[in-house]
Amino acid sequence: MKAVVVTDFATEPTLADLPVPEPGPGQLLVRLHAAAVNPFDWKVADGALKDAVPHAFPLILGSDGAGVVERTGPGVTRLQPGDRVYGQFMHLETGHGSYAEYTVADQNGTIARIPEILPYALAAALPTASVTAYQAVEAAKLDDRHTLLINGASGGVGQSAIQFAARTGARILATGTPELAGYLKDLGAHTVIDFTRSPTHHQVAALHPGGIDAVLDLVTPAGGDITPLAGLLRPGGTLINTNYATDPDALAARDIRAVNLGNQPTPEVLTTLADLAATGALRVRITAEVPIDQAPAAVARARTGHTHGKTIIIP
Ligand SMILES: NC(=O)c1ccc[n+]([C@@H]2O[C@H](COP(=O)([O-])OP(=O)(O)OC[C@H]3O[C@@H](n4cnc5c(N)ncnc54)[C@H](OP(=O)(O)O)[C@@H]3O)[C@@H](O)[C@H]2O)c1
Repeated sequence: MKAVVVTDFATEPTLADLPVPEPGPGQLLVRLHAAAVNPFDWKVADGALKDAVPHAFPLILGSDGAGVVERTGPGVTRLQPGDRVYGQFMHLETGHGSYAEYTVADQNGTIARIPEILPYALAAALPTASVTAYQAVEAAKLDDRHTLLINGASGGVGQSAIQFAARTGARILATGTPELAGYLKDLGAHTVIDFTRSPTHHQVAALHPGGIDAVLDLVTPAGGDITPLAGLLRPGGTLINTNYATDPDALAARDIRAVNLGNQPTPEVLTTLADLAATGALRVRITAEVPIDQAPAAVARARTGHTHGKTIIIP
């Protein structure tokens, strides 16, 4: 089967020909019809989890995907051949991932069935970005008295986060360049902050001198300075970061609830999001669909961070 692999940490992804994997007990063989690119994919290839989890090489890149169950291993009862499924398929210990024609998944893993009307490409675009957005907005505990800044709102996580936050009735400030402002407002943003004009925290502080209630920060990297964003919050406010850049203990001393959020997909959350996407209640902007042999170039583009939607790989 065709797959996109790295042969060691910090090496270039390449197209490879690998054997189709065998589903073991409790596992499914999934014929993937779409995979999606996330920043996590290249971060893992660079060794982000090097010290945390053993990695098997060649390592097939990619977490998110959608496809059809081709075959089941012994003891599988939850799903059967022909079921359309989606979810996260990265398994570093065995080297499996979603940038491939086939992958294996545990029947009780981070997968769920998808409705007939949900295209594979749209399903593949959801797991990491939209689950993160969904769980980040839940963690923010918003209601219609609150004002939220989404920093990094123009990317994959941010676009979904705007939509989930809009459902709470909160007032949403979203960062984005002027050409995207109309789109972000259409998703539910009330104000778009052009972060290329002057620092976001200056603009937000000028608009809300009394402070805001929550910040969802998708930009500050681990080890980066999150203080300017934390400084926008009223006492009792919430700061959520997706790159482990916050220090909850230090901020608790300032009466700020800080959360380093890592997405935790469950079949239930995945089913909820698939249903929302199938009915159009959750919109996901797909900016490119590329054949698998162009996946290495797509990963290189994703590394630049200038992404305004999801890139889909068609295996
Ligand atoms: N912990 C978790 O579970 C988890 C899950 C998903 C994602 N993440 C992390 O969350 C971050 C966002 O993920 P993503 O998938 O949304 O990334 P993405 O699709 O690559 O989007 C990044 C967005 O950030 C914008 N941006 C860059 N610099 C900015 C700045 N200084 N101010 C405001 N916006 C800025 C970019 O806009 P321009 O193109 O206009 O620069 C781009 O639209 C990544 O670091 C990712 O690794 C973590």
